[in-house]
Amino acid sequence: MTRSATQTLTHPLGDLEVREETTPVHAADRPDAAWWRQAVIYQIYPRSWADADGDGIGDLPGITSRLPHLRALGVDAIWLSPFYTSPQADAGYDVADYRDVDPIFGTLADADAMIARAHELGLKVIVDMVPNHSSDEHVWFQAALSAGPGSAERERYMFREGRGEHGELPPNNWESVFGGAAWTRVTEADGLPGQWYLHLFDPKQPDFNWEHPEVRAEFESILRFWLDRGVDGFRVDVAHGLIKQQGLPDTEEERTVMLGHAEHDDDATPAAAQPEDAPRIDHTKRSPMWDQDGVHEVYRAWRRILESYGTPDRILCAEAWVEPQERAVKYVRSDEMHQAFNFDFLTSSWIAEDLKAVITSSLQAADSVGAPSTWVLSNHDVVRHASRLGFAPGTPRMNGISATDPQPDRALGLRRARAATALMLSLPGGAYIYQGEELGLPDSTDMPAEFRQDPTFARTNGAETGRDGCRVPMPWSADGPSLGFGPGANTWLPQPDVYAHYAVDQQEGVAGSTLELYRALLANRRRLSLGTGSLTWVDGYAADVVALTNGSDQRERVLVVANLGDAPVALPEDAEVVVASGPLEDGLVPSDTTVWAIWS
Ligand code: GLC
Ligand code: MG
Repeated sequence: MTRSATQTLTHPLGDLEVREETTPVHAADRPDAAWWRQAVIYQIYPRSWADADGDGIGDLPGITSRLPHLRALGVDAIWLSPFYTSPQADAGYDVADYRDVDPIFGTLADADAMIARAHELGLKVIVDMVPNHSSDEHVWFQAALSAGPGSAERERYMFREGRGEHGELPPNNWESVFGGAAWTRVTEADGLPGQWYLHLFDPKQPDFNWEHPEVRAEFESILRFWLDRGVDGFRVDVAHGLIKQQGLPDTEEERTVMLGHAEHDDDATPAAAQPEDAPRIDHTKRSPMWDQDGVHEVYRAWRRILESYGTPDRILCAEAWVEPQERAVKYVRSDEMHQAFNFDFLTSSWIAEDLKAVITSSLQAADSVGAPSTWVLSNHDVVRHASRLGFAPGTPRMNGISATDPQPDRALGLRRARAATALMLSLPGGAYIYQGEELGLPDSTDMPAEFRQDPTFARTNGAETGRDGCRVPMPWSADGPSLGFGPGANTWLPQPDVYAHYAVDQQEGVAGSTLELYRALLANRRRLSLGTGSLTWVDGYAADVVALTNGSDQRERVLVVANLGDAPVALPEDAEVVVASGPLEDGLVPSDTTVWAIWS
């Protein structure tokens, strides 16, 4: 078929005329575009990937030993959640020493060995940087506590006098993302209650004062420390935090929402599906704690440091839960970060029109600043997409699933998850994969309360289940202690029995397994350089189908058809199927299935 011509598809339920739109929504990148403009980055959650020493918690030597799994999977890079010295009050996102490895994960030498092994296997290494807050066990915070009010040491954090006659009320009305007040009052040297300090997350995560030059200098030095050890970049935690509005005014928001954590109805959720009492975010009101303009100067300085390390590029990826997209893409202007997670895609409902809208707006917003878009469906903060998609489209997104909640339909969730991933990996730009999704892992949805460790659970008295369900240790083999996670029988979070069925050794080499699907998707994405392709919508299919082409002057055009409807849909006769997220039925694409086909 010639480009843009109409093609008639014969279909048992009635013929269909399909046609590629004349203008792409996104033009192809240069074929020699920098690696990060198209990279697939695999997120390792170090506590839960592989445990070498058998203490039930994953560690760096465990990671190093399992890296060949990722080489075989076909990803470009790994991103590791924090493995730094930490009391683990927020699973390592509470850092006490940014320049050392926590003993539960190993040593600095183990980090060096992990980086070297990854590089040997052709994998780049991205580490997590947590600049919004430290642990309360960081030497600076300990010094601030003992130095007392008015001291230079307290200036590096956000200490304030309380309100009320005796300072007994917090300085403002801000709430912690994890529940409860965002302020904790300290006991001063005289044994009396004194100042309050700000923590947007757990009380064990005091916020830094980013107006302080020493804080800025310290983080620039930490970046150099890890760059000098050979890392290829940083994922920047809570990148939209750091700077707070001058004067710390009360917020008008009912509660502090960081979309990753709290229950939230995204705009993409169809209005009809939104329950009346769902929390809403009013984007016209700027929050005093998030996305302040001053934060961009910090990242410009960081970019200059990374660029001083030459090529291949060292990169910054923002975890910035910022809306609308026009503000979010400010983080990826050409002199700031390279990438930002696309949480609009992650939070989109399994509804074709919503997905199309989000793909179009993501590409256009990123293009407006010359950045690649990124795509992500799961991470360590959200319910895994194999579970999330096991609910009816439009169900409000949950912060964890417990045994007393409605349970997802596991088979349906997996089927949709495979289709969603096949759609995601066909899109131009970068993509993120969260450990275990290549196995189709569901969340643990019946974890007994006594095992729960996410601070959200305790701080909301169990009202929010929290993120433990997506953080359960990986099953590598159906037999053996802890399903091959490590030599010990116990794991820091219990593995549900059903995980044995998803183990790597149950899927390796098995036709149709989720692991083999991911391998095929990644191999074909690389072979066809889909990451640098153009994107053009294909019209003519029913409204519950996402159909697009990914093109380039250098190679054949790829047609992608994701069927979110009930009725099977036809493919053009001259389309040659490359990979499908599930079996076709009489050549038709069945419900909740995505197909890639060469369409020349
Ligand atoms: C980010 C991390 C999350 C952590 C929070 C506070 O959202 O992804 O796991 O709890 O920041 O550091
Ligand atoms: Mg261990």
